[in-house]
Amino acid sequence: MAVATKTDYDIKDAALAPEGMRRIEWADRQMPVLRLIRERFEKERPLKGLRLGACLHVTTETANLMRALQAGGAELALCASNPLSTQDDVAAALSIDYGIPTFAITGEDNVTYYKHLHSVLDTRPQLTMDDGADLVSALHKDRTDLAGEVIGSTEETTTGVIRLAAMAKAKVLKFPVIAVNEANTKHMFDNRYGTGQSTLDGVIRATNVLLAGKNMVVIGYGWCGKGVAMRAKGMGANVIVCEIDPLKGLEAVMDGFRVLPMAQAAKEGEIFISVTGNVNSIDLKHMLTMRDGAIVANSGHFNVEINLKALQQTAGEGRRIREFVDEYRLPNGNRIYILGEGRLINLAAAEGHPAVVMDMSFANQALSAEYVVKNHTKLKKQVYVVPKQIDDEIARLKLISMGVKIDKLTPEQRKYLNSWEEGTE
Ligand SMILES: NC(=O)c1ccc[n+]([C@@H]2O[C@H](COP(=O)([O-])OP(=O)(O)OC[C@H]3O[C@@H](n4cnc5c(N)ncnc54)[C@H](O)[C@@H]3O)[C@@H](O)[C@H]2O)c1
Repeated sequence: MAVATKTDYDIKDAALAPEGMRRIEWADRQMPVLRLIRERFEKERPLKGLRLGACLHVTTETANLMRALQAGGAELALCASNPLSTQDDVAAALSIDYGIPTFAITGEDNVTYYKHLHSVLDTRPQLTMDDGADLVSALHKDRTDLAGEVIGSTEETTTGVIRLAAMAKAKVLKFPVIAVNEANTKHMFDNRYGTGQSTLDGVIRATNVLLAGKNMVVIGYGWCGKGVAMRAKGMGANVIVCEIDPLKGLEAVMDGFRVLPMAQAAKEGEIFISVTGNVNSIDLKHMLTMRDGAIVANSGHFNVEINLKALQQTAGEGRRIREFVDEYRLPNGNRIYILGEGRLINLAAAEGHPAVVMDMSFANQALSAEYVVKNHTKLKKQVYVVPKQIDDEIARLKLISMGVKIDKLTPEQRKYLNSWEEGTE
């Protein structure tokens, strides 16, 4: 099988590289933890000679992760983890200026998306890095011949971790996986504050609607949903939360939100955002009862959360009103506006998360890759959480980079917390 050479890439336009470079450098300024890792990697070269295949959103932040991994000595190939999330200038800069073969073109069709995935697999990666588990899944389904060379993988997002845990449970997973999403320094910040801000950014850029005074329905009150609901409330929306988990529903009530079943929320909402990681959270039966002009978006990983197929069967092909906005007319005459073809709206219509949160997510990726290289002989074919010392170290470095100091335990306090004898006095 051919190994991709440095001229072997598939991008939209090489002429976009200079702009990509400038924007990658801009993101780098907001990523101090990853920069520290890159500087250490340059000296220590912990990934020397490692063939690493990555399937991630091709953004400026990802480019800085690629730079860190390259500094560590890895031979890289990158493809997109979503057909709409690629920033073409970044793909160009990575391929041309950094010599990292990138296979990603924004708006690529499904055939090209999978062709690009296979181009990365053709480089025979020894370590894979996924966002949604498409690369690992393709490797297990179509390219089992490669599995023997893979020492491990890392996974970025909730949906990917769920898929990989299912593979481990079914005993089909062929190598160990580090679930980057499970690190506290990932989901508490990226999923909550990153998705919270960038999802609203995507909705606003796509539609230019005012959120203040609108009934906004957030479906799913996990890490992402909490962030979206919190930020929408801050912008004056009347937020309604839908959940299937009693604990999360209760949490939303105590956080001050109205909690309703989706059947009822569908009638009241004006803007809907799904962040469940689940199929058909916004189903046709809901859309049939929505108000005229309802705006419907998804920020969960896959484009399965809105039942677009059923909507198209009922309302026919949509009419593109403006970029990222398709209008569907229901038999009752009401119009539904689907944003970004139901793909994650923060990456389709906006730029994804701000670099300052991706700094921590991708610091976890880089350090997890190093951890797999050092420890793969001890790891089983399972999904592992990021080791606590890595998670804690990233939080420590992030605080330092922000100029925030915190207290240390006194010897007396440490002793007290480690003892069981002392009680009521
Ligand atoms: N847009 C982004 O940039 C981005 C970033 C991080 C994660 N994600 C993706 O967003 C999704 C959610 O991630 P998370 O970390 O919040 O997951 P999570 O597991 O913390 O939360 C999901 C919530 O949805 C609820 N839920 C499931 N099915 C439901 C249904 N039918 N109706 C109502 N609620 C339902 C669950 O009970 C859970 O509370 C995943 O697909 C994840 O991969 C996207």
